[in-house]
Amino acid sequence: MEEILAALRAAGEETRLRILALFRSGELTVTELVTILRQSQPRVSRHLKLLCEAGLLERHREGTWIFYRLAEQGGPGRLARSILEFVPHSDQLLQHDQERLAEIKRERTERASEYFRENAANWDKIRSLYVPEEDVESLLLELTADMEIKTLLDVGTGTGRMLEVFAPRIRKGIGIDLSREMLSIARVNLEKAGVTNCQVRHGDMYDLALPDETIDLVMFHQVLHFADDPLSALKETSRLLKKGGRAIIVDFAPHTLEFLREEHAHRRLGFSDREINGWCKQVGLMCDNMIPLKGSELDVSIWVARKN
Ligand SMILES: C[S@@+](CC[C@H](N)C(=O)[O-])C[C@H]1O[C@@H](n2cnc3c(N)ncnc32)[C@H](O)[C@@H]1O
Repeated sequence: MEEILAALRAAGEETRLRILALFRSGELTVTELVTILRQSQPRVSRHLKLLCEAGLLERHREGTWIFYRLAEQGGPGRLARSILEFVPHSDQLLQHDQERLAEIKRERTERASEYFRENAANWDKIRSLYVPEEDVESLLLELTADMEIKTLLDVGTGTGRMLEVFAPRIRKGIGIDLSREMLSIARVNLEKAGVTNCQVRHGDMYDLALPDETIDLVMFHQVLHFADDPLSALKETSRLLKKGGRAIIVDFAPHTLEFLREEHAHRRLGFSDREINGWCKQVGLMCDNMIPLKGSELDVSIWVARKN
């Protein structure tokens, strides 16, 4: 009972309730919360400390950034989600907070889009810097060798490489990307490679505008580390997957190369197995295979999750 009383006390204050409401859509850093709430960093940090101590939020340090999010486990985490059901979206103060949050996300998306606009032409070279691409590609084909893939969805398709690799194995492929520059390169690449069963289109990983349960395989190849809210992206994936369908996430293992944030628009410095497993579980996917791959500077992991 003491744990729940402490959690209720922590949530029972205006700014802390505003902070909890901001976590309805993913994870945020202190700097972002300071900008949204227009309060000093020490004040915001103190509120966050209290919310973490009460088990309502959890923190995750990654390089020089600390991410906060609603606690995934435990009574206080569940309590936070229940409290938020009663907090009206129409409240004016909360609406202003949401507008400022949307502004921050817009700016971040714009910065990332600019990066991809500038680097679209060089992307195939940049991609091969991490781990040998042939190793990843042959593993991906091996991991899906037992599947009948009628429809493949490649989220954040970039230059369309995954579609090209999978084209002979699938009936139809759809590549989605936010960057029109990347999409035009993907179109040229697919045409050059003679791929006729795949198409690419503009779209956002959080709202894929495709019908429920229509996709056999969803691929996130080096995309999730750009996401503000990986959990929501995986939720959208789960919605689209047919029962028995699979999601494959290829991304970095946790690392400390901070320059990837400043120079390459990464938001996350890789993902731990626990984190990906936890998110998959929350959206109804069962992550039953993880393959680690050693790189020269960065390690890569391949996670395979199934929808039951
Ligand atoms: C690092 S590239 C990877 C491209 C490709 N999957 C590959 O491995 O070569 C990441 C891609 O994700 C796209 N992207 C970033 N945020 C996105 C979003 N919210 N929705 C769709 N695509 C997104 C970028 O435009 C970029 O083309």
